[in-house]
Formats: sequence, C-alpha cells, structure tokens
Amino acid sequence: MAFDIEMIKKVYAQMGAKVDKARSVLNKPLTLTEKILYAHLAEDTNEAFTRGESYVNFNPDRVAMQDATAQMALLQFMQAGKDKVAVPTTVHADHLIQAKVDAAKDLATAKTTNKEVYDFLSSVTSKYGIGFWKPGAGIIHQVVLENYAFPGGMMIGTDSHTVNAGGLGMIAIGVGGADAVDVMAGMPWELKFPKLIGVKLSGKLNGWTAPKDIILKVAGILSVKGGTGCIVEYFGEGAKSLSCTGKGTICNMGAEIGATTSTFGYDFSMERYLRATNRHDVADAANEVKSLLTADHEVYEEPEKYFDQVIEIDLNKLEPHLNGPFTPDKATPISKMRAEASKNGWPTKVEVGLIGSCTNSSYEDISRAASVAEDAVKKGLKAKAEFSITPGSEQVRYTIDRDGMVDIFKKIDGVVFANACGPCIGMWARMGAEKQEKNTIVHSFNRNFAKRADGNPNTYAFVGSPELVTALAIAGDLGFNPLKDKLTNHKGEQVFLAAPHGNELPPKGFDVEDPGYQAPAQDTTNIKVAVSSESDRLQLLEPFAPWDGENIIGAKLLIKAEGKCTTDHISMAGPWLKYRGHLDNISNNMLIGAVNKFNGETNKVKSQLTGLYGEVPATQRAYKKEGIPTVVVGDHNYGEGSSREHAAMEPRHLGVKVVLVKSFARIHETNLKKQGMLGITFANEADYDKIQEDDTFNFIDLKDFAPGKQLTIELIHTNGSPELIKANHSYNQQQIEWFKNGSALNLIKKQNG
Ligand code: F3S
Repeated sequence: MAFDIEMIKKVYAQMGAKVDKARSVLNKPLTLTEKILYAHLAEDTNEAFTRGESYVNFNPDRVAMQDATAQMALLQFMQAGKDKVAVPTTVHADHLIQAKVDAAKDLATAKTTNKEVYDFLSSVTSKYGIGFWKPGAGIIHQVVLENYAFPGGMMIGTDSHTVNAGGLGMIAIGVGGADAVDVMAGMPWELKFPKLIGVKLSGKLNGWTAPKDIILKVAGILSVKGGTGCIVEYFGEGAKSLSCTGKGTICNMGAEIGATTSTFGYDFSMERYLRATNRHDVADAANEVKSLLTADHEVYEEPEKYFDQVIEIDLNKLEPHLNGPFTPDKATPISKMRAEASKNGWPTKVEVGLIGSCTNSSYEDISRAASVAEDAVKKGLKAKAEFSITPGSEQVRYTIDRDGMVDIFKKIDGVVFANACGPCIGMWARMGAEKQEKNTIVHSFNRNFAKRADGNPNTYAFVGSPELVTALAIAGDLGFNPLKDKLTNHKGEQVFLAAPHGNELPPKGFDVEDPGYQAPAQDTTNIKVAVSSESDRLQLLEPFAPWDGENIIGAKLLIKAEGKCTTDHISMAGPWLKYRGHLDNISNNMLIGAVNKFNGETNKVKSQLTGLYGEVPATQRAYKKEGIPTVVVGDHNYGEGSSREHAAMEPRHLGVKVVLVKSFARIHETNLKKQGMLGITFANEADYDKIQEDDTFNFIDLKDFAPGKQLTIELIHTNGSPELIKANHSYNQQQIEWFKNGSALNLIKKQNG
C-alpha cells in the first residue's frame, strides 16, 4: 500500500524553483495556498493569475475515489485506451455499507448485496494500476490521511470531503468523476483560481473544547456559502497547537461552508502524525523543504494584506458548540442550547448519539470520547440515548479495540458499526425512522440536512465534537452543558462529568492485522474487468459516435425547461444512485425533475411523433429509435449544483444533440463538451421566448463550427415561416475536437493510437 515517496520527493525537488518564480511573478510574499497551487501549474507561465477570476490548469499528484462515484469514472477511464492511470490513484469501498446491526453482520450483508460492484472495482483497479481499499478497510478520507496525504501536495477526489487531507497540509479538492477521469488519463485539471480566506487561531483549546468547535464556529461566521470559491488557510500559534487529525476535522468541514478546500502549514503535529503512521521518509523529506510548506513569514505578520478576508478566533475563549438542526452553519454555544431549543421548539430528548465518520474518528477523537464514557461508568451513569461508533479505518478500529476503548463504549451499550460511511450518508437502517416522528439526534459527522442520516425529515440532527456527543448521549438531553450541569446517577447522587482527556496518538503505536488493501496486479494480462451483461447496476460503456461533419437538421424540441434546472433536476439522486454504474438504467431519470415551460409540470413533455404527452426519458427514447435528433432548451445557470457527469452523459446517451440555454453553470457546460455534446447559449436571451412546443431546429452553419464564431439556428414553427436566431458558444479548438470525435475520451484514445 506504499505511498509514492519518489513522487513526493520529485514534487519537493521542483517546488523551490516554482515557488521562487511565483513570488517574483506576483511580486509579493506568498501564502501557503499560492505556493502549492503555483507549484502544481500544468504549464510553465509568467502569468500572475487573478484570484476569483482566472481559470488555471493544474497537475494534481493524486486521485482518490469512493465506490459510489468511482464506478462511472472508471467505466469512462476504460474508454481512454490507457494501460494504467497516469497518477497514483486509490478507490475506497466505503459508501455502500448499511449500518444496521453491528460491524461484522453489516459488512457481511454489504459484501453480498454489492458483490457485483465490489468485483468490478476490485478487477478494474487491479488492471489499471489503482490501489483498492476493500469494504471494511475504512472511510476514504481517513484512509487517505493515514496513508497518502503529504504536506504541499495536491490531490483531487470524487467526494466533497476530499478536503479532509488539508489536515496534512495538502490542497485537496472534491471534484466530479469526469475531472478524475481527465487526471487519471494524464490530462491537466482546471480550476478557477480561488480567493483566499485566512483564519488566525490564537490561544489553545482547553477542557471540553475540541478542533470540531473551531470549524463549527467558523461555519457560524461564514455560513454555508461563505467559503464559496475560496481556499481557507489556517495559521497562528493556535493552529500549531492542534493535532494533525484535529486539523483534518477542521478542513473536512470546510466543505460545509462551500470552500474549495482548506489547509494548514506544515508543523510538528504533522511530522508526529507522519511518523506515527509509519511515514518517516515523508516526514524527513518534508523537513528538508519546511519553508516551502508554510506561508512566507510576512503573510503571518500582516495577513490582511495577503488574504481576501481574515477571521480571528481565540481558542482560549472558544466554547463547545452544537450546530443545527438541518444546517451545519446554525451555530449555538452549548451554554445557550437549552434556551435556543425551547425558543425554537427543538425536541430536547436525545434519542441517539453517533460518533466517528470521516470527520471525527481519529485515535484522539475516540480516546477523548472514551474518557467521557469511562468517567460516566465510574460515576454510576449509563447512556440514556442509543450510542454508536463508526471508526474511520480498520487501523483506528483495531488500535482502539486493542487499547480497551471498545470495551468502555460497550459499557454504555455502544455499538460499533463497520468502518464505513454508514449513518453519515444515510446508509442507516434506523429502527422506526419510517414513522417519521419528530426526534433529536446528535452526531460528530459533518452534514445534518433534513433526511441525511436516517431518511426521516423530522429528525433534528445536531453536529458536535465526539466528546460532547458522548456526553449528550449519556445525559439524553440536548440542553445538557457538561461544563456546568450535573447528572443524577443510579444511586441518586448528583455528579459532574470530568472534562475529556485523550491521546493525540496511540502511546503503543498504531496496529492493524489486515488493513484491507489490495495492491494492483503487476501482470495485468489475464485480468478481465468483471461486468456481467446481466447486471442492472453496471454496464460497460460504448464510445459515443463521432460527429458526422454535417449540419444538424430537423431536430425536435424535447423539453423547454423553465427556471432552476440543476444537475439534480437533470439526473436525480436518491434511489437512482444505485444505477450510477449503469448508464442506460440511470438514463431513465433524465430531466425528470425539470419543469416543462409549456405546462408547468415535471416529467411531462409533448412528443412530436405522436402529439401525446409522456415522460421525458420515454419520449426521448422514441426519438432516438426513429433516429431523430433533439434539443433541450433551458433557462439561466442550467446545470448548477454538483459536478455529476451523469447529467451530461444521459442526454448524450439517449440521443439529445444540443443543449441550448440562456446561461450554463460552468462545470456542467464543460461536462457537456467532454461528452461530445453541443452546449450553446442564446446570443439574445429573449430568443428563449421564441421557442415553441412543436418547433424544429436546423443548425445551418454547424459545418463551420469554429472558436468565437456564432452559430445560426433556423427555427421552424408549425404556424409560421422560419425564423433565424443566433447562438454563442465557448468551445476552444481543443473542445471542438472533442465534439468532432464524439467525446474527449474518444480523442484521448485516438491520440494514444
Ligand atoms: Fe462518508 Fe460521510 Fe465522510 S458519507 S466520506 S463519512 S462525509
């Protein structure tokens, strides 16, 4: 499972010169973020990029994928005609394991239920040089932190909480599968150069306060949108006083403020963690380039000059927080929770406390939570609420078990779930959730949107540190403030819970019997990627057909979508997630959430073949069968939301030829281009109103498709003469080649010979 020390050394060897160049180009001292970004530019350039404006190509060092998103990404990668991934890559089987009984039983069930997905992932990773962390090995972000993250590195991952690796001084960013495919295939990866938020931490955490409280406080200050388009860089004495895994928790929840990512400068806590996780050579290499792995000292002296926004938090004064319900930025200090709950009518009886997840399952987290549980048991208390622990990795689980913590949790009737996402992603068979009763749970995860954990819209979920969650589960009371309040034990005595204590790292070292890692095969000749033609969850992809070089004539309107049309409207999630690896099956959700302008309804469009109204996917399949091209028309910011590539692949697969909108969300526009689709915008927005339900479209100068040149569309209305409108596009020459070849992957394959 070796991380690639040679790759890391290469990054460090080149970093000094690249950082010096960036400093002279920008003519100012550099933040850590700028150092890492400029050290990973795909092209050698003298350009000083504008934060928040410039689009820049980068070469990330690593790719990580979880099992839900990896399926389509790897099916696509197989289309690129490569023998091996271009950068070190891992896949982690963590999202598909449902928490129900306990780790052993739930894991066994998952291995049966998801067998075909796991067999596919195991074979495809082995064939293409990708490391595979098998079901039960752990949650992607914890495993990455333990094995792969390194200071100054750049990583992309197909999961929003990839940002967790910022705890080890990386720039680690969550992306869609299409981006991962590009990087695995050796293409650069594009990002809008982010703005910078500096968070200065002074003082030191004490008593009940934990790293989690820092990010809960930051979320309260910035809100769920406050970090959008920004990288958050933490610094100051307070930052140095935090453990590496504590830093990971803070960076992890940077996703909850919309930040591109977050990071910390290299310090002794990171060195300790690298050595404890058996990466002495990475620590030694990082120590040699220390000055490159933090911001220039001038930045720390006058941060306002170098960041777009600066926030200061005094850790001495920080209180434990609980954020929620229903949104992670609703921050309430624990001392105010009782009053807030009664003011807002939040149920105060805590039904379940859940600790762990990718956000908070370090040895330190678990040992502090265990200290609370142990103290409670000693003082004659039991947990009033149900209690569960989701370890982030087998290494953590094995070590906390060895060190007696699992036994402590069992004394308060705690259940250890599998090392997997489980309740955090809603893979939790919570008894009685279907009754949809109003109730409260507390957890140390990151997201607490309605229905997230148990599918019940009436579950009020609050996010707190593992130690606070443990205390609240013991008290069974949301308003319990362990700093001030006493609890009554079985003898009727009033007792305080002692403040938590723990170990940053295991005093006896980490240990594990079977980490659950499968290395890629050395000889791949006989490896066949396991995809059954009978499967309804997986389907090998066929390359999309290249453009025939002709104008598109006689295209029919499939739908004119009105208002918001996000990637969720185009390719709905929920039950459809199951089909993420099966393009034809998941295409049955295509545009079913989009509102038809002509009747105000969803999933009801007129077929020009029959004159009847029907569901969007079925209507489109009928056009495809007849070989009739179609057009989807949309409003502003079409395709906003996630970077889900299915939203571009489905229409392409079902034969839609053109998406014509007032404006695109940029990522979706790029995804359409990558899939060989024509994604264009009205030159005159008001022309949207000219599109009628029975229109036919002729793209009469597509043969002259060229960068910067408008396209002309001839609209044939049923009741009138043809009308000409103009469309703009943003295709550059390379992207036009994608269109001509049928997709970016087709082009890569062709270039590979
Ligand atoms: Fe999994 Fe929840 Fe993290 S879904 S990756 S444990 S945010």
